[in-house]
Amino acid sequence: MSDKTRAAVPQSVAIIMDGNGRWATRRGLPRVMGHRRGVEAVRQVVRAADEMGVKRLTLYAFSQENWSRPKAEVSELMVLLKRYIRSELDELMSNRVQVKAIGRLHELRPDIQELFNDAILKTRNNDGLKLTFALSYGGRQEIVDAARAAAREVAEGRLALEAIDEKSFASYLSTGDAPDPDLLIRTGGEQRVSNFLLWQIAYTEIYVTDTLWPDFDGAALERALQDYASRERRFGLTSEQTGRRARSQADR
Ligand code: FPP
Repeated sequence: MSDKTRAAVPQSVAIIMDGNGRWATRRGLPRVMGHRRGVEAVRQVVRAADEMGVKRLTLYAFSQENWSRPKAEVSELMVLLKRYIRSELDELMSNRVQVKAIGRLHELRPDIQELFNDAILKTRNNDGLKLTFALSYGGRQEIVDAARAAAREVAEGRLALEAIDEKSFASYLSTGDAPDPDLLIRTGGEQRVSNFLLWQIAYTEIYVTDTLWPDFDGAALERALQDYASRERRFGLTSEQTGRRARSQADR
């Protein structure tokens, strides 16, 4: 990794893992084979992100919309999630990874909920990479759930209407007070956000690669981090202001 990339590793990375189906179809294989290879990519990328100094990784493993896929494909994805968390927990534990989940976990099969809840509980005191799985997740649904939770507190007199601002509202989202992603990676070439972390990516840098998820590995992640390191993040300011801000921070 170059010094420039190393000096600007994003603290928080989120990934839309797309292209499993196409990877398989191009090889004349059933789509499920693409998902199986996708799990291998998950293993590699989790390890690589940790080694490269990423502190928080959020993976879009199963969206709300994915429930509408053919029943057999949904079942296969569930089996893969179950196998993954079962077989990986020991390694995650020894690498001090802290497992988390966002989304409507309660909509998953009870046995899968239990395995993830167990992994979350076992790894909760680990101080390494924070690895979040978005499961049965939808960004709009998450915002609606947060609005309902805040409205309930207002109705019950526990929260003043005026106390709702961007910061306090964000605490009702399933990401709580976690920092927003610095970088969102989407594999498979589509230029859209597909209902992922809608609130949280307001100022996130987006990197889209044509590489299909099963082919995404440590080297591909490094290319994404390299691209990120070459960007100037402006947060709505002018480049002159951000230049000045960067200089004054460096002076401190
Ligand atoms: C998109 O590929 C990917 C998914 C629907 C979910 C991602 C799932 C995995 C990587 C496997 C299981 C995950 C874990 C964490 C063990 P697609 O089928 O939409 O691809 P396509 O756009 O080429 O059809």
